[in-house]
Amino acid sequence: LLQEATQKIQDVKDSSSLNDLRVLYLGKKGPVQELMKGMKDLSKEEKPIFGQKVNQLKQDLSKMIEEKKEQLAALEMQKKIESEKIDITLPGRKPELGNAHPLNLVRQELEDLFIGLGYQVIEGDDIVDDEYCFERANIPKDHPARDMQDSLYIDPNRLLRTHTTAIQMVVLEESAPNLPIKVVCPGKVYRRDDDDATHSHQFMQMEGLVIGEKVTLADLKGTLEFMARKLFGQDRQIRFRPSYFPFTEPSVEVDVSCHICNGKGCPTCKGTGWIEILGAGEVHPNVLKMAGYDPEKCSGFAFGVGIERVAMLKYGIDDIRHFYTNDKRFNSTFKRYE
Ligand code: PHE
Repeated sequence: LLQEATQKIQDVKDSSSLNDLRVLYLGKKGPVQELMKGMKDLSKEEKPIFGQKVNQLKQDLSKMIEEKKEQLAALEMQKKIESEKIDITLPGRKPELGNAHPLNLVRQELEDLFIGLGYQVIEGDDIVDDEYCFERANIPKDHPARDMQDSLYIDPNRLLRTHTTAIQMVVLEESAPNLPIKVVCPGKVYRRDDDDATHSHQFMQMEGLVIGEKVTLADLKGTLEFMARKLFGQDRQIRFRPSYFPFTEPSVEVDVSCHICNGKGCPTCKGTGWIEILGAGEVHPNVLKMAGYDPEKCSGFAFGVGIERVAMLKYGIDDIRHFYTNDKRFNSTFKRYE
């Protein structure tokens, strides 16, 4: 019996078959137990001798099985380690990073362009005091120009900024009396507007502000021409049309020659060959005075450009709502991050 069991235990290949063997030999119905049971039929003298032998057999078998068990466990662990080995020389899988948002692309392009011209980029708070959004922009409480922008008030004195001109007013005050100032201020703005293909209650602007000695409308024109050509191609022309903003005097609206038809007239420019892209002007003397500057000693220009408008023209987007709905089919047409 011992010989047969030894052989079988040696030959076993995995721990579950080993367990079967243990049950087979040492279990309740196994031969060892059977021998024990047979002891009751033996004589008094034989019993202790036989008992000792059976016990010995039982111990030997247990020991053998135990040793084999350890051996197999070690072997199986070894196999497991082999199979879970990671080949660190395999190339990794690249996670998908998504696409740049067109508004960020335009914002980035504008920031790069103006940083290249020596401007600083300054952001501000979305919630501003009435004072900086309107009063300092030369729009007193009862001024009809307040109706030009429907605003969202949070309490009697604070509102969501309706234009990035609110940042301009903070920059002016904080810089006074130092000169020159050369900043662009990008950010979200908010208006009480019904959303449709060309209107959104929230959109993005970038304000430009330059103050120094004898900064003129000609400087503004050169700057905006440079910007228009960078954004829409080297052949672009710009033109000024007289306009009105309370915080600039004179004020202008700026058109770019249409980049689709090269100024010949097409549906995008409604046949005129020109596309309006922004409002601008020479900073009003009252604005300079309120911020602590002497309008006799300095002057400057400001402009405010709508990021959505530029992106729509540049990428041929026909509905402003595409920017905010996060449709993957729309987003994935723009530059991929790598
Ligand atoms: N703040 C104006 C607007 O939102 C744009 C503008 C900025 C005009 C600076 C002139 C100068 O419509």
